[in-house]
Amino acid sequence: EKGGYDHFMLKEIFEQPQTIYDSFRGRLDVEHNTIALSGLDSIKDKLMAARRIIIVACGTSWHAGLLAEYIIEELCRVNVEVEYASEFRYRNPIITSEDVIIAISQSGETADTLVALENAKKQGATIFGLVNVVGSSIARISDAGAYTHAGPEIGVASTKAFTAQLAVLQLFALKLAKLKNTISEDRYVHLLHELNAVPEKVQWILENELENIKAIAIKYRDANDFLYLGRGYNFPIALEGALKLKEISYIHAEGYPAAEMKHGPIALVDSTLPVVFIATKDSYHEKIVSNMQEIKARKGRLIAVASAGDTITLELAEDTMIVPAADEIIAPLLSVIPMQLLAYYIGIERDLDVDKPRNLAKSVTVE
Ligand code: F6R
Repeated sequence: EKGGYDHFMLKEIFEQPQTIYDSFRGRLDVEHNTIALSGLDSIKDKLMAARRIIIVACGTSWHAGLLAEYIIEELCRVNVEVEYASEFRYRNPIITSEDVIIAISQSGETADTLVALENAKKQGATIFGLVNVVGSSIARISDAGAYTHAGPEIGVASTKAFTAQLAVLQLFALKLAKLKNTISEDRYVHLLHELNAVPEKVQWILENELENIKAIAIKYRDANDFLYLGRGYNFPIALEGALKLKEISYIHAEGYPAAEMKHGPIALVDSTLPVVFIATKDSYHEKIVSNMQEIKARKGRLIAVASAGDTITLELAEDTMIVPAADEIIAPLLSVIPMQLLAYYIGIERDLDVDKPRNLAKSVTVE
């Protein structure tokens, strides 16, 4: 049942070229440059008129939502808010019939997300569900939606469901941008092709970076804390990298926007602290290079996720994990893969039950 892999988590990490492809299949058409998402079409008028989109989710799904906020605002020029379902549910939020809510959930059964949606629905909001489990409660309460075609996710820590969420959210953003005419034809076509190339780029990482990441895991397995830093589209990946490490290795880890470091966390940096930078080539790259220099000057152990060919980062960091070059909007789908593998191998090195970390449940059906 684990298909020859030692753990479901590793199997699911390795399934990602296929599950991302499956999430695109029948939707992304690079011959005709079209995106088919019937769920989006069915609420098209609401979406076009919406003054804002509210994304509601928990945990890893919330991280997918945070990235979607950056991408939808950039491409579609519509205001997006991202909410933790547990907070949204209790804080008496202002919701109207002009709001569209995107609910993101692997299981479709997360209690806080479900109740948040029930409340929003009563107030007239339109709900678009991005769910993995077919026929689940969140899928049923949604007015429209799209399934992530990740297949059953058994490992408690979410991996392939997260990348499937990102894949479909990218399609959603691109299709909406096209409808709203907020994207140039050139950029639209470019991003469609970039998305189409993601499965093979993920495959490249799995084939070429494994031994390197294992070695990094062995080197840092005894650390007590990790810091994960990223800017822009890679900030949600810093949060996700830290969450994966906490769950799987029980090492304390925090994710921060790289520039927030100066406002507190930099006090933690000494020669024992591994600091992971998600530093793929994007419009923030110069800024993140100077953040890396600041960590290096304080003798932090610098680990970076870098784009192939980025010699500056390669020279600066003590250890580097390489991902293929990609458009900055697409890159998070690649940079998260080394984060999953690093957490997995550190967990293995620490002899832990990576598929069933202590205290965690696969779906949180109680609040
Ligand atoms: C982390 C993880 C959790 C879930 C969260 C939401 O690896 O799996 O943080 O992402 O419990 O679950 P779903 O997506 O099922 O609503």
